[in-house]
Amino acid sequence: MRIGIYTGTFDPPTMGHLYILKKALKICDHLIVAISTNLQKESIFSPEEKVDMMKKIAPGVEVALCPGLIVDFAKEKGASFLIRGLRSFSDFEFELQMNAANLQLGGIETVFLMASADHAQISSSLIREISHFKGSIKGLVPDEIEPIIRKKFT
Ligand code: COA
Repeated sequence: MRIGIYTGTFDPPTMGHLYILKKALKICDHLIVAISTNLQKESIFSPEEKVDMMKKIAPGVEVALCPGLIVDFAKEKGASFLIRGLRSFSDFEFELQMNAANLQLGGIETVFLMASADHAQISSSLIREISHFKGSIKGLVPDEIEPIIRKKFT
C-alpha cells in the first residue's frame, strides 16, 4: 500500500495546497496531511485551527499533527513517500535541501507535484497579508474556510 504524506505548515491552507492535495490523492492508496512545524516561521493559526480547516476542505482525508521531524512521523505511519508542491524555480533550492535531508535522516523519498499556473503566485503569507488589510481572499482559499480566515483577522 502506497502511503503518501503531504507535509507543510498550512498557515492557512490555500487553493494551491488543495490542488496539490487532490493530485496527491491520485498517486497514493492512502494520503495523510501532516501539519508540521517550520522553526523559521511563527504561525498565526493554532495547530488545532489548521487541522479543523484541513478537515473542512478535504473531508475523508487523514489529517494529523507532526510536532517533530517529518522523517520520524513518516516512519511511524509506515509512509512510502513525502509529497511537496513546487510553484516556481524559487521553491526548488529549499526543496532540494529538504529532499536531501529527509533522505539522509530517514531514507524517505519526496515526490514533487507541480502547482497549476493559476495558483503559482498564491502563498499563505499573501493570504495573511491580504486578510490583515481586510482585502478579499475569495478564490484564493477554499470557500469552506474563507469565513474562518476572515474572522481570525477581525
Ligand atoms: N500552493 C500555495 N502555496 C504553497 C504551495 C502551493 N501548492 N506550496 C507551497 N506553498 C507556500 C506555502 O503557502 C508557504 O507560504 P509562506 O511561506 O508564505 O507561508 C510556503 O510555500 C512554504 O510552506 P509549506 O509548503 O507549508 O512548507 P514550509 O516551508 O513552511 O515547511 C517543512 C516545510 C519541510 C519544514 C515542514 O513542512 C516540515 O516537514 N516540518 C517538520 C520538521 C522537519 O522535518 N523539517 C525538515 C528537517 S530536514
